[in-house]
Amino acid sequence: MPATAPPPTRHAALLAWVEEIRALCTPDAVHWCDGSQEEYDRICGEMVAAGTFVRLNPEKRPNSYLCRSDPRDVARVEHRTFVASRLREDAGPTNNWMDPRELKQVLHGLARGCMRGRTMYVVPFSMGPIGSPISHLGVQVTDSPYVAVSMRIMTRMGARALAALGDDGEFIPCFHSVGSPLAPGATDVAWPCNPDNTWIAHFPEERLIWSYGSGYGGNALLGKKCFALRIASVLARDEGWLAEHMLIVGLESPAGEKTYIAAAFPSACGKTNLAMLIPPAGFEGWKVWTVGDDIAWIKPGADGRLWAINPEAGFFGVAPGTNTKTNPNAMATLAANCIFTNVALTDDGDVWWEGMTAEKPAHLIDWRGRDWTPDSREPAAHPNSRFTAPAAQCPTIDPAWEDPQGVPIGAFLFGGRQSRDMPLVYQAFNWGHGVYLAATMGSEATAAAVGQAAIRRDPMAMLPFCGYNMADYFAHWLYLRRHVSDPPRIFRVNWFRKDADGNYLWPGFGENMRVLKWIVDRVQGHGKGVESPLGWMPRYEDLVWDGLDFSRERFTELMAVSREAHSADACSHEELFDRFLDRLPKEFIYERQLLKARVWRSQEVWEYWKENS
Ligand code: OXD
Ligand code: MN
Repeated sequence: MPATAPPPTRHAALLAWVEEIRALCTPDAVHWCDGSQEEYDRICGEMVAAGTFVRLNPEKRPNSYLCRSDPRDVARVEHRTFVASRLREDAGPTNNWMDPRELKQVLHGLARGCMRGRTMYVVPFSMGPIGSPISHLGVQVTDSPYVAVSMRIMTRMGARALAALGDDGEFIPCFHSVGSPLAPGATDVAWPCNPDNTWIAHFPEERLIWSYGSGYGGNALLGKKCFALRIASVLARDEGWLAEHMLIVGLESPAGEKTYIAAAFPSACGKTNLAMLIPPAGFEGWKVWTVGDDIAWIKPGADGRLWAINPEAGFFGVAPGTNTKTNPNAMATLAANCIFTNVALTDDGDVWWEGMTAEKPAHLIDWRGRDWTPDSREPAAHPNSRFTAPAAQCPTIDPAWEDPQGVPIGAFLFGGRQSRDMPLVYQAFNWGHGVYLAATMGSEATAAAVGQAAIRRDPMAMLPFCGYNMADYFAHWLYLRRHVSDPPRIFRVNWFRKDADGNYLWPGFGENMRVLKWIVDRVQGHGKGVESPLGWMPRYEDLVWDGLDFSRERFTELMAVSREAHSADACSHEELFDRFLDRLPKEFIYERQLLKARVWRSQEVWEYWKENS
């Protein structure tokens, strides 16, 4: 355990906060992280000695580790996530709310002595490139060494972030404890946590985060969902920008023209795959550049456009299903310097997960540390097992991914998972209509049987991540238009439509490039399309089909929407809106009426569209 060294800062407010937490939580030692390789290697080595990490075979996976969590601590806990604004209505109907004073009392009670027997790591970090006008600083205190080393991959962490903070810079204080103090002489477990008493708490007015009881992912790496989405969405509302659950990619044409798009999808809809897409046959000369795979911070620029950064420095991606076919760039990114959590261990000291190879290995150690063979009934890797990988290792990382001014966004895409009644792609008529499309985005929560799938509305894919009342969030989106003379064009996409037999109609993955190319064409002003009741749609001949055998009939099946189905969908928007009635922007009422009217009067238009597409 490191000796407690003097703090490497003169920042009085930071020193006072760290001392307050130390006195409350009584850790055995305090370690200020400098973010160096030496520090990372030392902490990882300590976790290997403690049985928390398994060092992977350095010939197969250099400088990489496997970690197995407590089986009760494997995912974000939305039902234990709170937005404790002073007023309940400021948290809105989609967030769990508690009075901030009451919640603090609970948390302070739990925190008393909660780090006993452990080291408290002080982790200064920057979300976004250090020095960017779009970036923000935070400081996380944590009693989890796993979190400390993961933060080094996921953020710009350590001495350089502390230097950027200076003696009086602003930072978001992020408290984290696994909630498992060690009595003197007691032996530790590999993954301490407190699953029966987990709290993920946000205090939006104070811009403060407290997380207690979990060491996993978004519950514990507080720069990610807690800061970069929930608290940042509040900063963004107050300061006139957007903090979004979006990937960012740059699409470069053979002529060298680059168009950046930002795309929002609910969790587990393949954002990492889209962010690292490889153009298919027929797109020779095109390049797709990765800026980010999960979160975008987007600010109006002096030129009237929106400019975006990826606030993260790493990828915390779902491992199962990732392979050299679905995402070769991700597989290359994972070659070294990674932490794998809850995947399986091969007999030669490497990692494996479902879908990684066509053939299953004959023997593995599963994510719970048990022997596994292809006959085992349970998966070898947990379905939410993850890789934590440095973004800079991605072969397609955009040369501008750390540009402090960000990249200019030409289009926003919104896409849920809908097996029926939602076209592959269409473009909103204007900003207000686009915001409406984004706010009413639906996604099937489960892979339910065809025809039975329940649609969950997930506005802007932000349902679990908006740190304030979502009705105010919709109004903020509409309001932002005033400050952006050249806004991104807005599109709905749906890769997940199925035919009557339950087969996906669209091949997805690299073939999504065909849709992205149409979007780029629209943004650049030379893409053709037809006006439909829903928005602008491509006809068959408006997409590039070279290299893919895809019939006009199949395309029509993929794009068509019945009047009845869409009418019913438009009516069901009201269920969402009723939850926000007192604060809902009035534009939404009119947009809904217009949509219903367009759809209702549209039979002839549909027929025309089908015949001419
Ligand atoms: C994620 C999520 O982990 O959205 O990115 O759940
Ligand atoms: Mn996400």
